[in-house]
Amino acid sequence: MSTPHNSAKKGDIAETILLPGDPLRAKFIAENFLENPVQFNSVRNMLGFTGTYKGKPVSVMGTGMGMPSIGIYSYELIHFYGVKNLIRVGSCGAYSDKLDLYDIILAMGACTNSNYARQFELPGTYSAIASWDLLYKAKQVADSKNIKVVVGNVLSSDTFYTPEKDLPKKWSSMNVLAVEMEAYALYCNAAAAGVNALAILTVSDSLVTKKETTPEEREKNFTQMIEIALELA
Ligand code: HPA
Repeated sequence: MSTPHNSAKKGDIAETILLPGDPLRAKFIAENFLENPVQFNSVRNMLGFTGTYKGKPVSVMGTGMGMPSIGIYSYELIHFYGVKNLIRVGSCGAYSDKLDLYDIILAMGACTNSNYARQFELPGTYSAIASWDLLYKAKQVADSKNIKVVVGNVLSSDTFYTPEKDLPKKWSSMNVLAVEMEAYALYCNAAAAGVNALAILTVSDSLVTKKETTPEEREKNFTQMIEIALELA
């Protein structure tokens, strides 16, 4: 059985999946980090692969950008394919002046300006959080590999471009470290289904210093984030 957005058959996808936004990043991870990768999806070019890492089954698939997109793909992975551990590996823009380019964030929680949680009809504001087990394990893996990580809160934004002023200052006044566009929806979907999710983010630009990385630099430095994520399989 397949879904409207995924042509994989049940059993084609491992219980643990890495989720970069960019499908070509998924292909790169499959080809460079997995043993014997087999492609399971190309619908809408949202490439997905399953292979093994140190002998353990693991999948990797793109999610596209934004909460509606990761919302669809993660829902189908959980409900149609039985995926239990969903690990976003993405980039983020720093809101904190203490963060440097390439710093890695483990997103313990995600704030949002989106209405994504409205569908759950809760009588209040939902705080989206990472799976403790994945978060704890990721921190331990990072420590054991001597990779510096920052654990904290991020903003999942519906917009990349906005006329709003002073967003970094406002959010960082509540110790929100960085902005990206997917973690909140991923955490909601995982929580609603009782499965595990974690977003691991590399700082690709700073909204404070305006520094930016180049695509070539990003590809090189994002290896550490992938190494942490793969150890969670
Ligand atoms: N905004 C939103 N998402 C991002 C950014 C940003 O500046 N950088 C990387 N992902």
